[in-house]
Amino acid sequence: MDDARWPGSRHWLQTWTALDGTRIALRPVRPQDASDLGTLISALAPQTRRRRFHGAINGASAAWIGRMVDPDPHRELALVVEVGMPGAGQLVAEARWARCDTDEAEFALVVDDAWQRQGIGRRALIALLASAGERGLRWMRGDVLADNLPMLSLAHRLGFDLGHADDGCTRIGRRLRSARSAGGVATRRTWLERLTGLAM
Ligand SMILES: CC(C)(COP(=O)(O)OP(=O)(O)OC[C@H]1O[C@@H](n2cnc3c(N)ncnc32)[C@H](O)[C@@H]1OP(=O)(O)O)[C@@H](O)C(=O)NCCC(=O)NCCS
Repeated sequence: MDDARWPGSRHWLQTWTALDGTRIALRPVRPQDASDLGTLISALAPQTRRRRFHGAINGASAAWIGRMVDPDPHRELALVVEVGMPGAGQLVAEARWARCDTDEAEFALVVDDAWQRQGIGRRALIALLASAGERGLRWMRGDVLADNLPMLSLAHRLGFDLGHADDGCTRIGRRLRSARSAGGVATRRTWLERLTGLAM
């Protein structure tokens, strides 16, 4: 079923099971996630934090976390990945986009170090692309530190064009296919698979 705030979200909100049986859910962030999101950010390894925030933030202020868990629904989407009991699990990733132009959004994401290389980043980025397409956006971009090979590899696999590194940063971008122009609900799964080149 769709999240009420996001028509079409049933096509990109997901739950799945890890190999050890742990339940994993990709869902919109909620204000009550503030404390758990703070814990996730604080626990990031220095390199992971640098890659996500392009700087050496050590922790996150309550005001900043407050903004992160209360995105403006008119121009932002923020997702989290929760493992364990719904509503009482651990947040292991956050992913977001913000509209920065009429039809363009910028994204960022991070996966907890202990949970990397398990397909979470890929699922989260696919969901960001799909949700932005659902909203009628046409272009997704990101700025990635030039030495961030995991993110550049993931982006390349999902069809992003990689620009030249400038000042240690690589601008990446890819076109989005609007679900509105791709037809109705019945075609969206096919559209999403075409968008990403990957079966969900
Ligand atoms: C980049 C990041 C989000 C990837 O998340 P993840 O859950 O580990 O990625 P996945 O397991 O979904 O891997 C998907 C693909 O990403 C690439 N990748 C991920 N980790 C990689 C690594 N350590 N080395 C090389 N490629 C890697 C691979 O192409 C991988 O596909 P494969 O497993 O078939 O080889 C994660 O490493 C991270 O949080 N990094 C720090 C924050 C960051 O860089 N954010 C981006 C700022 S915009």
